[in-house]
Amino acid sequence: MSMLIYDPGGVFKDGGISQEQLAELAPRLEAARQEVDQDDLALLAQGASLPAEREPLDAAFYPLPEELLKEQQRAGSESVVGRIEHLAGELRERVETVVLLGIGGSAAGARALMDASCHPYHNQRGGKPRFFFAGNSVDTGATRGLIDLLSSDPSPFAVLAISKSGATLETAIALRQFVALQQKLRTPDWPLATELVVPITAAGSRLDLIADQQGWSSRFRVPQQVGGRFSLLSPVGLLPAALLGIDLGALLQGAAAMNRRFRESPPGDNPVLDYAGVGHLAETTAGRTIRLLATWNESLYSTGLWYDQLLAESLGKEQRGATPLTTLNTRDLHSRAQQHQQGRRDKLITNLEVTRPGAEPLAVGPAPWDHDQLDGIEQRDLGDLERAAREGMDQALGEDGCPTARIELPGMDPFSLGEFYQMMMLATVVEGKLLGVNPYGQPGVEVYKQNMKRLLGLDKDENPAR
Ligand code: PA5
Repeated sequence: MSMLIYDPGGVFKDGGISQEQLAELAPRLEAARQEVDQDDLALLAQGASLPAEREPLDAAFYPLPEELLKEQQRAGSESVVGRIEHLAGELRERVETVVLLGIGGSAAGARALMDASCHPYHNQRGGKPRFFFAGNSVDTGATRGLIDLLSSDPSPFAVLAISKSGATLETAIALRQFVALQQKLRTPDWPLATELVVPITAAGSRLDLIADQQGWSSRFRVPQQVGGRFSLLSPVGLLPAALLGIDLGALLQGAAAMNRRFRESPPGDNPVLDYAGVGHLAETTAGRTIRLLATWNESLYSTGLWYDQLLAESLGKEQRGATPLTTLNTRDLHSRAQQHQQGRRDKLITNLEVTRPGAEPLAVGPAPWDHDQLDGIEQRDLGDLERAAREGMDQALGEDGCPTARIELPGMDPFSLGEFYQMMMLATVVEGKLLGVNPYGQPGVEVYKQNMKRLLGLDKDENPAR
């Protein structure tokens, strides 16, 4: 068991919530745990007979880590994890570059994993494969920029086309554009065209049909009842992770360890229940309707953005749900922090701290001048400065009636990341139970998607996968 701690710490000071409130919430947290751990899974196991008010019930993300690990033990190279690792090995041999096409939950997890695990200049320093993201906007400049970059390089690139519905316009359009680019650039020494596109989608989706027609034989499924933003530990996040050399076993074991802790530990020693409980109370009793995750490492900023989507799409329903906001410090201490400290008292600020960030410590260092008066701290490293900035910020916020909470991540190794991602997904579902909203599904987003298609004259028939 790792040391991942959720320490509500300072949040109990004036302006936050009280220990008594959290103790009073314990029976409801226990009930929510029972619903997630038993009732929802029992309902899922019944298959097609879900009551309409429980639709959708994308709860299958919860047991997924254990299921994938067990299947790997049983079926080895035939298992999903075995097949992912095999394909990742092959692609790493065949191509220099991978372009991931996907949006929302189909891309955010892979981006978070890459940034947390790889060198910050992975692509620039010759990381193999170079890894790019597209199909997550309709931005001409960004798309053309990547097309220009790939066009200037004779080496083959692979496309991962990730879309559960297989019908998301941004991804579908990018698929056309990047497959056309492959065709334009290919030379006889490139691998077969059919080996260079890997779809990850639901069975029977439009993307699945395209893959059938094109003969793209390496294909992975988004498991049924795993929603997009809960799909990080399915092939959606695992294939990109394997391509980037991230240890899938450790990632899944971390998530499985968090599942155990969720099931077995009492409130007060249960990161999932404690995080959900503090967030819920802060929102519903202290007016802290903005959930601010303060990151202190650039490599965790996209993890914060992944969580923004998770919280926003899961709980932002029926005019409820806290508004997520990720900040990157100390950068944002020089821009947003003034408002966070002395503006409206509507924010719960949680510091995401890393005990062992991984990179070698970097000292302030000597210089042939002392006009900056830094000689006194020349031996101190940037980690010391980060701690000083964080404590300084916490004190300043506390004195202004904005106490902060804290999540401590032992490191950015795959095991700790697996724990953290699973913790946040479970906590979001528990919070949905406390709030009384279905955390699964995103009815508002679906309306925008349909409207966009209608405005483009593309609303002729239904998506076969939905
Ligand atoms: O969480 C979700 O389900 C959404 O954010 C989807 O991931 C996003 O809309 C992309 O959908 P799809 O994977 O079907 O292309």
